[in-house]
Amino acid sequence: MSDQKIFPVKPEFADSAWIDNDKYLQMYQQSVINPEGFWREQGQQRIEWMRPFTKVRNVSFDDHNCAIRWFEDGTLNASVNCLDRHLETRGDQTAIIWEGDNPNESKNITYKQLHEEVCRFANALRGQGVRRGDVVCIYMPMIPEAAVAMLACTRIGAIHSVVFGGFSPEALAGRIEDSNAKIVITSDEGVRAGKKVALKANVDEALTHPEIKSLEKVIVVKRTGSDIAWHPSRDVWYHDLVSIASPNCPPEEMNAEDPLFILYTSGSTGKPKGVVHSTAGYLVWASITHQYVFDYHDGDVYWCTADIGWVTGHTYLIYGPLANGGITLISEGVPNYPSVNRWFQIVDKHKVNILYTAPTAIRSLMAEGEKAIEGTSRKSLRLLGSVGEPINPEAWEWYYNVVGEQRCPIVDTWWQTETGGVMIVPLPGATPSKPGSATRPFFGVQPALVDNAGMILEGATEGNLVIVDSWPGQARSVFGDHERFVQTYFSTFRGMYFTGDGARRDADGYYWITGRVDDVINVSGHRMGTAEVESALVAHPKVAEAAVVGYPHDIKGQGIYVYVTLNAGEEASDDLVKELRNWVRTEIGPVATPDLIQITPGLPKTRSGKIMRRILRKIAANEHDALGDVSTLADPSVVDSLVENRLNRR
Ligand code: WT7
Repeated sequence: MSDQKIFPVKPEFADSAWIDNDKYLQMYQQSVINPEGFWREQGQQRIEWMRPFTKVRNVSFDDHNCAIRWFEDGTLNASVNCLDRHLETRGDQTAIIWEGDNPNESKNITYKQLHEEVCRFANALRGQGVRRGDVVCIYMPMIPEAAVAMLACTRIGAIHSVVFGGFSPEALAGRIEDSNAKIVITSDEGVRAGKKVALKANVDEALTHPEIKSLEKVIVVKRTGSDIAWHPSRDVWYHDLVSIASPNCPPEEMNAEDPLFILYTSGSTGKPKGVVHSTAGYLVWASITHQYVFDYHDGDVYWCTADIGWVTGHTYLIYGPLANGGITLISEGVPNYPSVNRWFQIVDKHKVNILYTAPTAIRSLMAEGEKAIEGTSRKSLRLLGSVGEPINPEAWEWYYNVVGEQRCPIVDTWWQTETGGVMIVPLPGATPSKPGSATRPFFGVQPALVDNAGMILEGATEGNLVIVDSWPGQARSVFGDHERFVQTYFSTFRGMYFTGDGARRDADGYYWITGRVDDVINVSGHRMGTAEVESALVAHPKVAEAAVVGYPHDIKGQGIYVYVTLNAGEEASDDLVKELRNWVRTEIGPVATPDLIQITPGLPKTRSGKIMRRILRKIAANEHDALGDVSTLADPSVVDSLVENRLNRR
């Protein structure tokens, strides 16, 4: 395999990079030998404090006494760090470049303008009764007001909970209920690929759920101007509020450990968890990783294609670049509209220097061949990044050869919603790349591989990926359920943070992420709990049982393979398959649409009634010749029928 193929660091890149190999080794050593000293300096340099911290870290991964605190006696405000402190030096510099779905729509917003808009909206939120510590739900398309909304929350100490605009009313309702959000900020509609997305209507539907008791107001940004239903006692236009609000908004003085935001993510069991991030530690992590991972220099135009609904859209679209006084491009549309070379037209139009995207997007562009880059020069590009899932070597090489013309290093960044920012990555001036490997740990990150008993494995080996000590950007809790936080991350392997991923380490000490070792699948870089899809399916009146597994998919990385059994008297049919597919779309959202649904008379179970997913995974992956031991099944004949009727995949 391409294990052997090495792409060295180009000396001319290393020469002008923040970090070369010597510096990496020296700083990494320092960060793990003397974390106090390392992070004291970073915390002092990167943050404008209202009251400086004196304590750097206070951390225990013990599952009986788990505590994670960084810079705990300092106070600050995140919006001040992303906006106010840049006004003097770069008030007239662009902060946000917005590129619309329609190629004729774009605009630049300076730091001064963004600051003013954030202050106005922050005052408006206060006027609507939002107070420090309240939760505000943001369900928005990719428009500048989404960034304004997030930063306005931080200005007044409200905790934002961004819900991806592609989620269904059902999924939105669950998140509003769990977070006790007081306000939802949305827009009349979103626009993607020339089509309108009914966001406000989705909010209206979500709010019909009787379990939602906390909600007071819906603030609506006018994006398309289409007719929408209006509830005068509850709904307010964003522009009405902002136009009369004062542009002076004193920032709330927040404690370092106050929550900055909640972001829901899927796990192997139960409902999605509201991962809680801190204010100071998160911001330090966003800033240092954004600067070094992307080798960000003043004036670079930086484009992260992630949606604000995911953690990448928090750390690397908003907080990292703005904390660093950077220029961040927000794009509303999709890669292939109105033409398949759209993304690289955007690169040329705005002279993008750094592009950060996901393997699934790279693969779908790669499938278009030359057309994807036709008529574009991409000469401005200096660095490329990848995130969300392992990048297969073929896609890596296409990205490198075709998009970057062998000029741009690729940073394959491994991290998670819970880690706040990048954890394992080839720093572009320091680490030679091997396509498919996220390579070496970032400063302060101490990864290890353990066997199933929790024994640390040495040398070149494979195992469960854990992180043995804390880093500032680490999640602090699960909203409303700290015990679940401790259980999920610190109880599998005592005294260590468990990532849920498996990994291999090669002879050079490089990490190769092999994928999730739990019941979580990764579809187009979106993390999904199989249990969530299963519970949506069994809520259908005709379904008795459901089992969901991932299988290898050319474009999406993993596809969703569903096995269902029907209630007595129900008949399998193509129409029913379609109905079930649509059912999951409306219950969760289009991201969860099953690729393949096999209706089967039975599922493989142990005598104690546990579904044997190992077998279902093998059948879905077309590896039914290697099913392993099936003798513990209550009824082994079920397997023959499953194999015989398995579905073909593309
Ligand atoms: C899971 C986290 C990181 C922000 C976006 C996804 C997988 C992520 C990589 C990578 C291999 C990767 C892991 C991880 N993953 N990046 N570069 N190489 N796998 O965040 O939704 O929290 O998902 O994505 O399996 O656990 P997330």
